[in-house]
Amino acid sequence: MRFSYQKLEKEHALSILRWRYVSPYDYYNFDVDTIQEDLCYLIDPQNTFYAILNVHKELEGYCSFGADGQVLGGDYCTEALDIGMGMRPDLVGQGYGKHYAQAVVRYGVNQYRAQKCRVTIAEFNKRAQRVWEQVGFEQIGRFVKTGTEEEFVIMIYKV
Ligand SMILES: CC(C)(COP(=O)(O)OP(=O)(O)OC[C@H]1O[C@@H](n2cnc3c(N)ncnc32)[C@H](O)[C@@H]1OP(=O)(O)O)[C@@H](O)C(=O)NCCC(=O)NCCS
Repeated sequence: MRFSYQKLEKEHALSILRWRYVSPYDYYNFDVDTIQEDLCYLIDPQNTFYAILNVHKELEGYCSFGADGQVLGGDYCTEALDIGMGMRPDLVGQGYGKHYAQAVVRYGVNQYRAQKCRVTIAEFNKRAQRVWEQVGFEQIGRFVKTGTEEEFVIMIYKV
């Protein structure tokens, strides 16, 4: 699978905001009531979102490198490149995840010269944990997101 990356543009963001995952992954659906704020967030260069495009330049997913990948309450003292990622809903659950994750890690490491990468994943999302495990990440901790009862795990990959 070959992908290219492009800074996320408004058209990409508008598509992503409409993506709908089925339960329990609807947790990741953007809220229709906050579309304008979410759009600004996705295209703000400070949040370093990229579109993941296939060879036909079609949007297959997105990723972020940096603070977007952190969750309030986690321990981020160690220096590492935080990665966030989401695949298009019609592509999930078919065994492709590791290919996207591997490609995103490779791109992030090259682009940001990272020695370590980190992902923060909702505890319930065993599918996502499995994918990051498959590309070499190891769980190093867990915590409850500040102000909620949602549990998260932190996973690290050493380059
Ligand atoms: C998270 C994501 C990258 C995973 O990719 P995917 O292509 O859907 O996952 P796969 O189909 O490759 O499944 C990965 C593994 O999880 C396993 N799995 C699936 N559902 C599972 C479950 N409920 N419990 C445990 N393992 C599960 C699969 O069997 C597979 O393991 P295997 O290769 O050993 O058989 C993708 O679903 C996505 O981008 N989702 C968007 C929403 C989201 O979850 N965001 C979190 C971002 S990291």
